[in-house]
Amino acid sequence: MATAKKRVIVVGGGLAGLSATIRLAEDGVDVDLFSMVPVKRSHSVCAQGGINACNEIARQQGYSEWMHFDETVLGGDFLADQPPVLEMCNWAPRIIDLLDRMGVPFNRTPEGQRALRLFGGSLFKRTFFAGATTGQQLLYALDEQTRRWEAEGRVTKYEFWEFLWPVIHDGACVGIVAQDMRTMQIRAFRGDAVVMATGGNGLVFGKSTMSVICTGGATSRCYQAGAKYANPEFIQVHPTAIPGEDKCRLISESARGEGGRVWVPRKPGDPRRPNDIPESERYYFLEERYPKYGNLVPRDIATREIFQVCLEGLGVGGGNMVYLDLGDVVKQIGREKVLAKLEGILEIYEKFVGTDPLAEPMKIFPAVHYSMGGLWCGYTKDDKTGGLKAGAPNNFMTNIPGLYVMGEASFAYHGANRLGANSLLSCIFDGLFGGPSIRNYVTDVARAAADAPQSAYEAVVKQESQKQDRLLKSAGDVNPYLLWQEMGKQMTENCTVVRRNEKLRQTLNLCQEWKHRYARVKLSDTGMWTNQNLSFARALGDMIVQAEAILQGALRRDESRGAHYKPDFPERDDTNFLKTTIATFDAATAAPVISYEPVDTSLIPPRARTYGKKEA
Ligand code: FUM
Repeated sequence: MATAKKRVIVVGGGLAGLSATIRLAEDGVDVDLFSMVPVKRSHSVCAQGGINACNEIARQQGYSEWMHFDETVLGGDFLADQPPVLEMCNWAPRIIDLLDRMGVPFNRTPEGQRALRLFGGSLFKRTFFAGATTGQQLLYALDEQTRRWEAEGRVTKYEFWEFLWPVIHDGACVGIVAQDMRTMQIRAFRGDAVVMATGGNGLVFGKSTMSVICTGGATSRCYQAGAKYANPEFIQVHPTAIPGEDKCRLISESARGEGGRVWVPRKPGDPRRPNDIPESERYYFLEERYPKYGNLVPRDIATREIFQVCLEGLGVGGGNMVYLDLGDVVKQIGREKVLAKLEGILEIYEKFVGTDPLAEPMKIFPAVHYSMGGLWCGYTKDDKTGGLKAGAPNNFMTNIPGLYVMGEASFAYHGANRLGANSLLSCIFDGLFGGPSIRNYVTDVARAAADAPQSAYEAVVKQESQKQDRLLKSAGDVNPYLLWQEMGKQMTENCTVVRRNEKLRQTLNLCQEWKHRYARVKLSDTGMWTNQNLSFARALGDMIVQAEAILQGALRRDESRGAHYKPDFPERDDTNFLKTTIATFDAATAAPVISYEPVDTSLIPPRARTYGKKEA
């Protein structure tokens, strides 16, 4: 009897999704690739500063893959399982070579070498970059490779399709139900395995640097369907963004990597323009407090310090802004060379603020940027190397057999705080290293999705159609956008940079109210053609579910670690909290059940994370 050809569903058209798609296609596996937007518009396109790896030039300075690994686990405040991190850092140099061969236009030195820049959490230049639009260049390169496989018939793209729910039969994931965002058709797709590569959940916090599709709706749906959600409370707030009415726009860490300096006037509320304030009256607070790393301390630290100076009334004009100054860099290397390295972000600043950032310091403030937490996934450790066993079917697999997770949607690698420029790396590594694991699962382990009964798929289509009908027919009085804004404001105020248990409890109470009000959500558009209102309102319910897991995780973690900072518990507490938070959705109460799992710190023992801070 002929066996059906293996087929994998990849959800998410960003770097992690494309990397998995290409690797699976190379291995002869057919892929159905789903994306809510054209893949070239996936949120990876917004990544700016670069991608980390050790190369020969860095090695000559004394850097190594092991140091990259050490920086990553220290950056994450020891909350990441170490074998996957080691494996990722060991693969990084090969990943850069691969991207170069694919045609990524990396910046070059005059000698023709790929150029390197400094980035947060390292004293070594080990970040490769393509101007300040690195994510876009990488995404376009992988998009071209994907198109090649599409042309050969191995990849089928479903752009403008929204993932609605996984299909689980006999305990294993055997497909998905998705909706065509144009015709609004809901239909099921069979897959021998499913890869979730759907990014982060910044919209839970209202405004963030993330794109409007980054609701976390897809991962929330998997969580509600039984997948474990790990470290939900770890949310990265990037130190440098332009706050906007609609969203926050990232001003890359590469501005500081190239020598940009963060400062505030020493005199509170100084009314002078920044260029009129003499050097002696400027407070370069990161450089003074962290002489070793200066402006390149990891993001959690830089963000807290910026908050603190603003709290002390030293923010620009007494408000919530600090300066990010490229003046010295322009003096050192000249305007043209700065443009060659940073033009992408300088254009964004000029467009949205209206001043020339090379003529006058930028005004910036922190913004929610990245979800360290995500769907839990497993791995097989290679005891010989300390890294991962190549091809093990459980690498990157959630607790639901056949359901995989990659990229920002996953909790792996970054622990309590991600180092800048490690995210592009983790996305590509996941697909590249994980592809053979998935292939082995579908060929050797999985029961064929073709054998799953049609009724399993029909049941999920029915569930999603009913959910949609409830929203369309609701006679309620709650505007989903206003409810979302309210939730975002509360989550940002009470569950980002500074967390206090009393505020977290109050926000959890509010969360119960949001759930009740969500049941009365009314759509302003009930048409059945490109109804984005419906898509957003549906995701809002999933965001509220995630908010509750984030709040519960944050409330219970009575310590400070990486991005999670509680003034009432200012120290890291390895005795009680060197463990991964696991949120499991309890369908009966529609609430998270929190438990913990140990972290594998077998390769580098936890140590204090000071970054050479000078005591005040
Ligand atoms: O600042 C940045 O360019 C962002 C990079 C990252 O999040 O890795």
